[in-house]
Amino acid sequence: MSLLEENQSTDLEQIIGLSRRGFISAGALCGAAMFLGGGLLSRSALAAGVSAANSQLMGFDSINAATTDTISLPPGYRSSVLISWGQPLQADGPAFDPSGNGTASAQEVQFGDNNDGMSLFAFADDPNRALMAINNEYTNYRYLFPHGGSPASAEEVHKAQATEGVSVIEIQRKGDGWQFVQGSPFNRRIHANTPIRLSGPAAGHELLRTRADATGTRALGTFQNCANGKTPWGTYLTCEENFTDCFGSSDPKQTFDAAQKRYGVVAASKDINWHPHDPRFDMALNPNELNRHGWVVEIDPFDPLSTPVKRTALGRFKHENAALAETGDGRAVVYMGDDERGEFIYKFISRDKINHQNPKANRDLLDHGTLYVARFDGGDNNPDRPKGHGQWIELTHGKNGVDASNGFANQAQVLIQARMAASTVGASRMDRPEWIVVSPTDGQVYCTLTNNAKRGEEGQPVGGPNPREKNVYGQILRWKARNGDHGADTFDWDLFVVAGNPAVHGKEPKGGSANINPQNMFNSPDGLGFDDAGRLWILTDGDASNTGDFAGMGNNQMLCADPVSGEIRRFMVGPVGCEVTGISFSPDHKTLFVGIQHPGENGGSTFPEHLPNGKPRSSVMAISREDGGIVGA
Ligand code: FEO
Ligand code: CA
Ligand code: CA
Repeated sequence: MSLLEENQSTDLEQIIGLSRRGFISAGALCGAAMFLGGGLLSRSALAAGVSAANSQLMGFDSINAATTDTISLPPGYRSSVLISWGQPLQADGPAFDPSGNGTASAQEVQFGDNNDGMSLFAFADDPNRALMAINNEYTNYRYLFPHGGSPASAEEVHKAQATEGVSVIEIQRKGDGWQFVQGSPFNRRIHANTPIRLSGPAAGHELLRTRADATGTRALGTFQNCANGKTPWGTYLTCEENFTDCFGSSDPKQTFDAAQKRYGVVAASKDINWHPHDPRFDMALNPNELNRHGWVVEIDPFDPLSTPVKRTALGRFKHENAALAETGDGRAVVYMGDDERGEFIYKFISRDKINHQNPKANRDLLDHGTLYVARFDGGDNNPDRPKGHGQWIELTHGKNGVDASNGFANQAQVLIQARMAASTVGASRMDRPEWIVVSPTDGQVYCTLTNNAKRGEEGQPVGGPNPREKNVYGQILRWKARNGDHGADTFDWDLFVVAGNPAVHGKEPKGGSANINPQNMFNSPDGLGFDDAGRLWILTDGDASNTGDFAGMGNNQMLCADPVSGEIRRFMVGPVGCEVTGISFSPDHKTLFVGIQHPGENGGSTFPEHLPNGKPRSSVMAISREDGGIVGA
């Protein structure tokens, strides 16, 4: 979702400089380096251009910021389009219609719009074949319809709904590149009207029952699918994020209860405007429909006829992504962020152990387990990159005050209203948690806290892992589970990087941490991905105005970091108006797949085809080295 969406906009004019943090002391640097266990580079060393020689992990030089309508990469790298919005999935499917006059039924069998999180699933018996499950988060009415405005009929709403959800596609390696396989029997669209099963502790609860589904177990559709997860048993997790934006009310004076308000639904709707033409999204008629969204949905990409499942045990909120890990005794862990200013970070632990021998035995693993929410201490207030401790607090009915005395009748309600349960136990309000990933080399967990213009207001104190008032740049938090066990109740945290603009702000807090310099600076880290070698890839969804606080940062981009040294280099810059989001790798890591979402969001782009007066199209890019080597090495 774009930084510029109304519900996440920043009031940049009110941003003020802070003087709380001063110059970085040698002692502070030393402490940070000791915590990391590696040689942290000083800003001056990085600025002097010695970076290329220092990382054992990264074999390319940081590229410059750019404002062009292209993909910029280091020398020796190339990119190609794997698939773009509107591409027909079947051999005889309707072609993309750039006029905007394409129908809803055509869009239902075409690649969805605004691709976001994605996972690659390799075929066990053929290294040259794979499936990709790719989220389609939302759409741009500017390009979807000839009139460029909100949908004005049931057909137009249906078409918008068909742009969202998930696209499953087969890809094959042909020659030296991976290509989309049109017509593969695995190709599939899941969208806002696809039948989906609700399972887990909240399934069937009265808050999930509607006129159309008295059982509360048969939902229709998934939409606003942000980022993703991939389970060790070979399924895809798609995460429902800004679902409330799709709802409104035909009664402009409708009032909402505390839970409805907490999730942000309003009568006027946002400009998505589905409710006037689809009563399912009209809160005056179908208030419980809202509760059937905001979940993590599990999909088996290898079974095109399978029914996706909403896993209620993982809680309902504005899910960003789902990062899988395993406890010391073999149970599944799912780390999850709730992307809204001041919302929380969660962890689910399954009741049962993962069966690695028989993947299908894990079919219902995510239906039974315990949900926790994170509470961080104030940390050490280190002026560069603070660190501290934290704990996971159980969200189980009858424990920690999550009971009838605080309005929770049962566990189903705790899960449906997870935000309120987390507030009850005093969880820490974060700077918009976006993606979470787990390091394949040391098990540390990284989470982007993208920005938060309201940090410092009542109820959102400055400090701990949220150290800056009116935070426009964001930071990346990481934590290490106590004793390295993801099942532990406690952890140690630090900030891996505090983004900023040292060219504009020098070393005051808005200049960022010591591993930020004028060459690699960025704002609003969002997507994250680890490759198998342990390189951390950072994708941005920030302010691309290239002026003011953001002068010199250029378009949204992808960076690469060495988690041990803390060094960060800019690897790719995206086209005009895009967000860079969604990342995956071919099994041999010689191709990196990355998503370009909403190029030309506000005009000014014809990416990727660059046709005269052409429409920009969200696309998945395949990036590889001209010499056939491993990307990033
Ligand atoms: Fe869909 Fe929070 O980004
Ligand atoms: Ca995001
Ligand atoms: Ca974002």
